[in-house]
Amino acid sequence: EQDPVKLMKQQVGKAAADRVQSGSIVGLGTGSTTAYTIQYLGERLQSGELKDIKGVPTSFQASVLAKQYGIPLTTLDEIDHMDVAIDGADEVDPNKNLIKGGGAAHTREKIVDTLADQFIVVVDSSKLVEKLGSTFLLPVEVLPLAITPVMQKIEKLGGKPTLRMGVKKAGPVITDQGNMVIDVKFDSIDNPAELEQTLNNIPGVLENGLFVGVADLILVGEIKDGKPLIR
Ligand code: A5P
Repeated sequence: EQDPVKLMKQQVGKAAADRVQSGSIVGLGTGSTTAYTIQYLGERLQSGELKDIKGVPTSFQASVLAKQYGIPLTTLDEIDHMDVAIDGADEVDPNKNLIKGGGAAHTREKIVDTLADQFIVVVDSSKLVEKLGSTFLLPVEVLPLAITPVMQKIEKLGGKPTLRMGVKKAGPVITDQGNMVIDVKFDSIDNPAELEQTLNNIPGVLENGLFVGVADLILVGEIKDGKPLIR
């Protein structure tokens, strides 16, 4: 018997991979859902059904998976457009605004995802919320030398910041760019667009996990009558 959340992630990850057309430059997201997208893109290439795609990874993890599944990679320096980006999210609100960064990859994800002509988000139904910040803390990537002043400024804004600590590692999580992540609890995120800008204006903040007005399409995997369904 398969875990239902895993099944939803698998179905929705595959549904997004099915939308990619031959000849496309594709932003490859980070996380357990887009891991399935990368796997299925590789399988479509292998079978010959899909030809001539190039991936732009949003993280070290995405580039490792892409290599494992045989997807040719390119870099932002070598392209002048991106057709589509497919990425996961930690929360999605009814306006298609997102919180990302559960995997500490939101800075590169935002660079890649905002470049794409179409940004497709793949989530299981547990990620849908009425209001951002209700179930997930907001990740903020910060230069290590600025951790203390940034936390102080975030507290003045009404947030409760905690430094993200490693699992199976003594000390903080270090991002792919060599920085640290603060997870912030806000009582209520009423204006995500404003908060996104306010946080990014704090010196030492690289990027926060609010993605406002960026997603074009949200694919949601859910289980209906015991069967996976995409909507
Ligand atoms: C990575 O930093 C995040 O933005 C991920 O996209 C997010 O955590 C989704 O991950 P899952 O697909 O594993 O839930």
